[in-house]
Amino acid sequence: VPAVVRHQRVPVQQAVGGFWTRALGVRIDRATLQLSVTDLQGRTILADGPHPVAFDGSRFTLTKALPLGERIYGLGDKTGNFDRREQSFVDWNTDAYGFNRATDPIYKSIPFYIATGAEGGAYGLFLDNSWRSWFDFGHRDPSAIEIGADGGPIDYYIVAGPSVRDVVRRYADLTGKAPLPPLWALGFQQSRYSYMSADEVRSIAARLRKERVPADVIWLDIDYQDRNRPFTTNDKTFPDLKKLAADVGEQGFRLVAITDLHVAYAPNQGYAPFDSGAAGEHFVKNADGSLYVAPVWPGPSVFPDFTRAATRAWWGSLYKDFAADGIAGFWNDMNEPAIFETPTKTMPPTVRHRIDSDDFARRTATHAEIHNIYGMENSRATHDGLLKLRPNLRPFVMTRASYAGGQRYAVTWTGDNSSTWDHLKLAVQQMLSLGLSGFSWSGADIPGFTGGASPELATRWYEIGAFTPVFRAHSAKDTPRAEPWADGAKHLAIRRRFIEERYRLMPYLYAVAEQSARTGDPVMRPTFYDYPAMEKAPCDQSMAFTLGADLLIAASPKPESPYPYDVCLPDEGWYDYWSGARLSGEKVSEMPRLDRLPVFVRPGAIIPSQPLVQSTAETPNGPLRLDVYPGDDCRGEIYLDDGVSIQGSSLRQSVTCTATAKGLSLHFGQRVGSYAPWWKSISVTVHGARALTMTIPDQPNAATVEISG
Ligand code: NOJ
Repeated sequence: VPAVVRHQRVPVQQAVGGFWTRALGVRIDRATLQLSVTDLQGRTILADGPHPVAFDGSRFTLTKALPLGERIYGLGDKTGNFDRREQSFVDWNTDAYGFNRATDPIYKSIPFYIATGAEGGAYGLFLDNSWRSWFDFGHRDPSAIEIGADGGPIDYYIVAGPSVRDVVRRYADLTGKAPLPPLWALGFQQSRYSYMSADEVRSIAARLRKERVPADVIWLDIDYQDRNRPFTTNDKTFPDLKKLAADVGEQGFRLVAITDLHVAYAPNQGYAPFDSGAAGEHFVKNADGSLYVAPVWPGPSVFPDFTRAATRAWWGSLYKDFAADGIAGFWNDMNEPAIFETPTKTMPPTVRHRIDSDDFARRTATHAEIHNIYGMENSRATHDGLLKLRPNLRPFVMTRASYAGGQRYAVTWTGDNSSTWDHLKLAVQQMLSLGLSGFSWSGADIPGFTGGASPELATRWYEIGAFTPVFRAHSAKDTPRAEPWADGAKHLAIRRRFIEERYRLMPYLYAVAEQSARTGDPVMRPTFYDYPAMEKAPCDQSMAFTLGADLLIAASPKPESPYPYDVCLPDEGWYDYWSGARLSGEKVSEMPRLDRLPVFVRPGAIIPSQPLVQSTAETPNGPLRLDVYPGDDCRGEIYLDDGVSIQGSSLRQSVTCTATAKGLSLHFGQRVGSYAPWWKSISVTVHGARALTMTIPDQPNAATVEISG
């Protein structure tokens, strides 16, 4: 409404106004408010439709043109097709237990999409509006994108390309980059709803080590608490959390504990989070000023008003004891927020929040406005609280609900998925979409939360999961056990081999992680992110992705099918990761085999890896390994630090290679940073017609090593 009012009051000087930036031209038709954005050559990037904005009370709808052939990606972990064209979506954070491909909305609201044009080029659009919003990408009208919200400002950003990578990086500049997680969070993480006692946690830890399944983390779901009350422990089943953390810590494990936001409504019971929260006025209220009380896991519960800085600080301080006990990370679940026993599954839109923070004008707001950012503000409070309690440790928080920019505070997962083949496919697409939407760090419950997976599905899920950002096994109560050994020796052997591969690849993965934190590039990417022509490659790529730029994982688009399928590669001369063999064409045919997941390597990649360890807490014993895959643009990165500190020394080194008449020269760049590496020597394997391996001393300085043969 204000835009229209302003337009009527300002005398119209010119029919068309506009301006140029260094990269774009922006034109506004003063009569119709039609907006168009062009590149410097005048080619349209994005133009409004004939009726650019319509109002209906406090709701608005914007209309943009949707040219033929344009593809649409993003919006976070939405269900449906990965290309969002011809679909429509609503943003309203929802506890979506048992969701399927047609369920919308689910847990998060990330009102940001990326469009790629038929002739190349890309732009992004971020609607920064926390109200219930919607996006229609040619669903109602094939030639229009409609974007709207129930209220709030018409505040949106058009993010210039021209490549998808440019858009994603600029969007990360705007909304924040996902910081580098602690190294241990890149390891395999074992969870279950729930490990019911400290003894069970100890036995899971012992079994992981006995079966030699490398792992870093064991998760504590709600049953470690007293009557599901956050920030308590059940003193019968978990009598000494500190000792448990210390004991499993000796075996190289960290604990992550759930701390849901709903605080038990327990006046006069000596329950500190309720008492201190009530004393500090930290809980949201109904419109009539009474406390809003509603049922969740603890029974009647109250809900922190995370829009207040004072409430966030109070919430953060609740982590003091767990942090002192050595709990490494925290899980913020149910923060849509989920409410039981109501068809809406959440709190009424009339509940009041008090915005009181140095980054916003002070005012009250209804839950209708705050709902979609509530989960993000919960994870923000947790993240900031941990930072205050342990100032130089990277906070590890996992959140279920979030909003655009929430990647600054927490990693995420895709919620209560199911153990079905379709969910395995959906999981890959959800993680890719989250990556394009700022969330570099995501996972999906392996092998599906509900339902119970067949052994074959579970094994496939472990294989693919080993190449995804957050590698966590989790499953619901009353489902069959889903730990790696649950289906017998044959399946365990395959799962272990893939988990081991993840640990061997840790130096590569950590360098990708560090690069992602600096640039905003996702960790797990659609193949067209680094190789734009792949967007139109003639293969079904719905299960293909890259991890960093150099490894291409090509699971079957029909992972349940025994039939062969084609894999498209970005170029000729890619290498088979497992055999090291160089491939001739741009397409290979894969015959599915349960123990194989096709992985390919970019010609020109130099992949660092390490000897096998059982957790990231163990120092690898032996040389750093560099696998050189000769080709153009031959390079790799080494990055190392202590894995947990925010400020501390690090070590960075680039390695490049060039072909010579006799073979190959490997150039080690000057090392930056003083962190002492664990290796004393480097084992170099050059792949090609026949692989050649040699061991050389560590290369702390700029140096060239000639390899002939
Ligand atoms: C819902 C979460 O999505 C699930 O992962 C968790 O196990 C249960 N809540 C219990 O905390």
